[in-house]
Amino acid sequence: MEVKMSKHLLIIGDARNMKELKNESIDLMITSPPYWNLKEYGNGDSEKGYNQYIREIKEVLIEVSRVLKAGRFACINVGTAVSNSEMKHIPCDIIEIMKRLGFTFKKEIIWVKPKGTQGLWQRGTTKFLKKEPYPGYLNLNIMHEYILIFQKKGEFKIEFNEKNKLSEEFIKKVCWSVWEMKVSYTKGHPAPFPEELPYRLIKLYSQEGETVLDPFGGSGTVMKVAKELNRNSVIYEINPKYLELIKTKVGWEQKTLNSKHEFKLIIRDDKNA
Ligand SMILES: C[S@@+](CC[C@H](N)C(=O)[O-])C[C@H]1O[C@@H](n2cnc3c(N)ncnc32)[C@H](O)[C@@H]1O
Repeated sequence: MEVKMSKHLLIIGDARNMKELKNESIDLMITSPPYWNLKEYGNGDSEKGYNQYIREIKEVLIEVSRVLKAGRFACINVGTAVSNSEMKHIPCDIIEIMKRLGFTFKKEIIWVKPKGTQGLWQRGTTKFLKKEPYPGYLNLNIMHEYILIFQKKGEFKIEFNEKNKLSEEFIKKVCWSVWEMKVSYTKGHPAPFPEELPYRLIKLYSQEGETVLDPFGGSGTVMKVAKELNRNSVIYEINPKYLELIKTKVGWEQKTLNSKHEFKLIIRDDKNA
């Protein structure tokens, strides 16, 4: 019987400072930054507020670039946002930041969600159909997000062995630039991604025993999937109110005969850091 083993570190703290992690200690980064309009950015729906939001993401990405090993991949799931009727192309701004940090922009995948999820049907269609059904008043239901794949300078080395070989079934699912995936139904967090998203990326860009980082941990989806795929994980989450949700999701207290997963928790007091 194969015994599954992995180590997982959860830090309740601000990922703009990942002082717990050594330089070049992480094999893969998968994350989804907070939605702009779901977080308080001082100046709200303004240019100044947006710039502050992008600056915070940049500070986290600078840390990501420090802790990621050479030649390794950083996968960022992010959508666009609308403010005062203007489209903010957050993915474009993130691509610029990553390129300035020395990463190579390798791939773009579009995640398409089923029509009508997240209440978007009402917001877009109802207004267009019932209030302003005229040319020039198109109101879009945004049903896609981006998954941007970057590589840090250096060589990616992987063993060509049976364990690392991806199945034909899996390859046929992931080799399209559009991934159709459901949204997550995790309760208690406003913006989790579906487990299928880190599942595909972890299999595509890491091998067993390696360590996956999510600096914007949310409900802990990356940690859960990393554990299931025999990878170690480190996640940061700034908001302590998600601690119990994460613990439940990842099976913190669970013990089984054929698995040995170690969990460690650090709660930082960033105000006095
Ligand atoms: C879009 S959610 C991530 C959801 C996650 N992928 C999941 O499946 O649950 C972004 C998370 O980042 C957290 N966050 C925002 N700023 C942060 C920071 N500076 N450091 C750490 N976490 C942060 C938010 O509290 C939020 O839970």
